[in-house]
Amino acid sequence: MKIAFISSEVYPYAKTGGLADVSYSITKALAKAGHDVCIFMPGYHSIDKNKFHVKLAIAPLIIEAGTEKNYAAILESSYIPGVKTYFINYERYFTRDGLYGECDTEYKDNAERFNFFAKAVIRSFKKINFMPDIIHCNDWHTGLIPLYLKTIYNNDTFFKKSALIMTVHNAGYQGIFSKDNLQPDAFYNSAFGRKETEHSEVINFLKEGVIHSDIITTVSKKYANEIQTQEFGYAMADIFKRIKKNLYAVPNAIDNDNWDPETDHYLTYNFSADDISQKMKCKLELQKKIGIAANESIPLLGTISRITFQKGMDILADTLELLFQDENFQFVISGSGDKRITRRYDYLKKMFPQSVGINWMYSEELEHLTLAGLDIFIMPSRYEPCGLTHMYSLKYGTVPIVRATGGLDDVIKEWNERKGTGNGFKFNNLNQEELYNILRKVIKKYKEKDKWKLIRKNGMNFNYSWNEAVKEYEKIYKLVLK
Ligand code: ADP
Ligand code: GLC
Repeated sequence: MKIAFISSEVYPYAKTGGLADVSYSITKALAKAGHDVCIFMPGYHSIDKNKFHVKLAIAPLIIEAGTEKNYAAILESSYIPGVKTYFINYERYFTRDGLYGECDTEYKDNAERFNFFAKAVIRSFKKINFMPDIIHCNDWHTGLIPLYLKTIYNNDTFFKKSALIMTVHNAGYQGIFSKDNLQPDAFYNSAFGRKETEHSEVINFLKEGVIHSDIITTVSKKYANEIQTQEFGYAMADIFKRIKKNLYAVPNAIDNDNWDPETDHYLTYNFSADDISQKMKCKLELQKKIGIAANESIPLLGTISRITFQKGMDILADTLELLFQDENFQFVISGSGDKRITRRYDYLKKMFPQSVGINWMYSEELEHLTLAGLDIFIMPSRYEPCGLTHMYSLKYGTVPIVRATGGLDDVIKEWNERKGTGNGFKFNNLNQEELYNILRKVIKKYKEKDKWKLIRKNGMNFNYSWNEAVKEYEKIYKLVLK
């Protein structure tokens, strides 16, 4: 099959979260399975042109926006094995420090930026002569592509046999903008000329993507149900309910090339489920690197996360402050995001300098060492479409505590003392009391060495790779092509 995968971030070119990891792993696995795969993404300023051997792909395209003419440079790289990546660049929109915003503030022209991106992607297909069987879009940033293809390009023979898939990685971000954010032109009219949006003053990019795609997927079974409720689907809950017979769940998986403690090249000390002895050295190295007391026996708890409301990091900070009064443990956090929340952790660090380690920089290397060095991983998300770090932590022998939502609930099986089964711990309600109780319970459990070894071993046996997950996508592609 000829598959075009369109995403606003792709590892290793540009990443803020799991979407980048997933975009990389799916396309690599599809290419390995023999498909002709290409990626389209914005040509952000931060992409390392030398490292990834980025070069010009074709002559620039003229993209109309209202009465203006803008130029899209189309660049390419073959850094991902078997996958050609096309970068859509236009200085005015993508020569900036951030992907979506800077310093906790979204760029004001995001609607225009991703509208431009959508038009340029569609126009590129013909220029590079890639006639796709599958156009696989991801999240709100790509939402206008299905809209335009199903409206103004509806009778274009070039796209006659192309099927449209939209994967919802996060319905908490829908790309909702006022109509005034887009310049009126033929594209704009296709979006607003229809009856159902006629009276609406807003455009919802994700909604456009969903209602104009042939099949919708999301990234865990539980989240596929959750988004049909107001609590998780927000303004789109009714739409997800309405299209549910075309809504499929393909859970995210682990990329064993990058996430295996036995072969991880970021680690000085490698280990496996059969021989975990070197994990302790990772713990000591992490304590040293992040500036807390080196101590083998103290429970080391931590997380790596975007620091946002979604991730429950606000409540976690308050709960830790209480817990430090009652328990002897250490805590490490790595992430970036909302300054109102990171400040709470800075305060904790001041209070407990030998016990709290903080890193507010984006660092792949530290991310791997943190997963390997921690004893306990905490993910108290308000919602979590799938999540990747709880799966990574399982593989790295770091026992996860998660809130029972989305992909966290699907993957983590509660430890059962009597049967010796389970790979982690779960709690239901995100409040200080429940979080405090579960953290305390797990810190105590850590001290029961034999039981802890078993929980850890159960987790390290977790084995769900992208080669399997991609078979699910292949089934969906075949189904939609019928
Ligand atoms: P989300 O996509 O909602 O952020 P996921 O769990 O799916 O959550 O994926 C998050 C990815 O981003 C993981 O690979 C995680 O380790 C990585 N990540 C988040 N923050 C940082 C950071 N500060 N440094 C390095 N990696 C990070
Ligand atoms: C989103 C979700 C996360 C998911 C990731 C990749 O950012 O928040 O749960 O794992 O996308 O699908």
